Amino acid sequence: MKALVLNQETYSLSVKDVDLPLLSPTQVRIKIKAASINHHELWTLQEKNLKSNSDIILGSDGSGVIEKVGSSVKNLKTGDEVVINPSINWGADNKVHGQNYEILGFPSQGTFAEYICIDHTYVGLKPGHLSFEESAALPLAGLTGYRALFSRGQFESNNKVLITGIGGGVALFALKFAVASGADVYITSGDATKISKAIHLGAKGGVIYRDKNWSSELREMAGGFDVIVDGAAGRDFARLTELANPGGRIALFGRTAGQITDLNPKTIFWKQLSIHGTTMGNKDEFESMLKLVTTEKIKPVIDSVYPAKDINLAFKKMESADQFGKIIMNMKQF
Ligand SMILES: NC(=O)c1ccc[n+]([C@@H]2O[C@H](COP(=O)([O-])OP(=O)(O)OC[C@H]3O[C@@H](n4cnc5c(N)ncnc54)[C@H](OP(=O)(O)O)[C@@H]3O)[C@@H](O)[C@H]2O)c1
Repeated sequence: MKALVLNQETYSLSVKDVDLPLLSPTQVRIKIKAASINHHELWTLQEKNLKSNSDIILGSDGSGVIEKVGSSVKNLKTGDEVVINPSINWGADNKVHGQNYEILGFPSQGTFAEYICIDHTYVGLKPGHLSFEESAALPLAGLTGYRALFSRGQFESNNKVLITGIGGGVALFALKFAVASGADVYITSGDATKISKAIHLGAKGGVIYRDKNWSSELREMAGGFDVIVDGAAGRDFARLTELANPGGRIALFGRTAGQITDLNPKTIFWKQLSIHGTTMGNKDEFESMLKLVTTEKIKPVIDSVYPAKDINLAFKKMESADQFGKIIMNMKQF
C-alpha cells in the first residue's frame, strides 16, 4: 500500500510503498478515504523528536470503509463506513489515561496511509450526515473539544463560555458543541475575519488577542466567564484567570503560545478557580461526542482539502495559523 512516511532526517513526509498491515482477530482493516492533520503532528515535525528503526506513519484522524474484519469481530462488517478513535489504551479510569496511553500515529501506525488495521473497539460508525472528509475532521479535535467543554470544563446550561484562538481545530468544535448546547459563547482570534466567521457560526462576539487591551475589551463586551476553553497558554493565560467568574473552570488543552507566566495566585484562590488540564478523551466521551454530532447534525468546519501527496503543504498552512477549521487530506489522491 502507499503511505506518507516520515523522513527521520528532514522531518518531512513522502509517499512510499510499504507492506499492507496484518489483520489480527480483534481488528478491522479500513480503507482510509480521508484523514486530517493536527497540531500534534506539527509539533513532531518541528521538534524532530521521533526515532524508530521502522517506517513511521503518522496520522491520528481518519475515516473510511471497512474492507476486512478479524475473525472475532462481531459488531462491525465489511462495507461499514467508519471513523477511528485515536485515543489508544486509555485504561480503566475515565478520569485520566493510564501509563500505556498512546495517540494513534506513533508508535502504532497512523492514518496517513491507504489502509490501517486497528482494534474494533476504536472504531465508530460515521455520522450519516457527514462526508468522509467532514468525518475525518472529527476524531481528535472533536474528542478533545468535547472533554474540555463538558467533562473538564463542567459546562452547565446557563454558563457563559470563552474559547480562545477560534481558528484552531479543537476551538471550533468547542464552539459548535457549546452553541448546540445553548450557551452564550465569546471567542478570541488573531484575525478579525475569523471573528466574523465565528459569529456567523453562533458566537456572540470576540476580540483580537493581538490587541494590547483585548481582555478589558472582552470584559466590557461580555462580563466574566464560567467556562474557558484554552489551547494557547502563554503569557496571556493569566488574563484568563482574571476573566473567569468566581467558581469558574479553565480547561487547558494546548500550548500554542508557550509557557504560562505571571499567574497571580490570589486571583486563583480567592475566586475559587479550577484550572483543569485535559487531553483527548476516553471511549465514553468519544461515543458521546459522536452522538452529539449525530443528533444535533453538527458539521465540522473544514478549512481546506489537500491531496495526500501535498501533505507537507498542508502542514505549512497549519504552521502559518492561517486556517479556519480543519485541514483535510484526501487519501485517495497519492
Ligand atoms: N491535549 C490534547 O489532547 C490536545 C488535542 C489537540 C490539540 N492540542 C494542542 O492544542 C493546541 C491547538 O491545537 P489545534 O490542533 O486545535 O491547533 P490548530 O488547528 O493549529 O490551531 C491553533 C490556533 O491557535 C490559535 N493561537 C495562536 N496563537 C494564539 C494566542 N497567542 N492566543 C490564543 N490563540 C492562539 C490560532 O487561532 P486564530 O487562528 O484564531 O488566531 C490558531 O488557529 C496545540 O498546542 C495542540 O498541540 C492538544
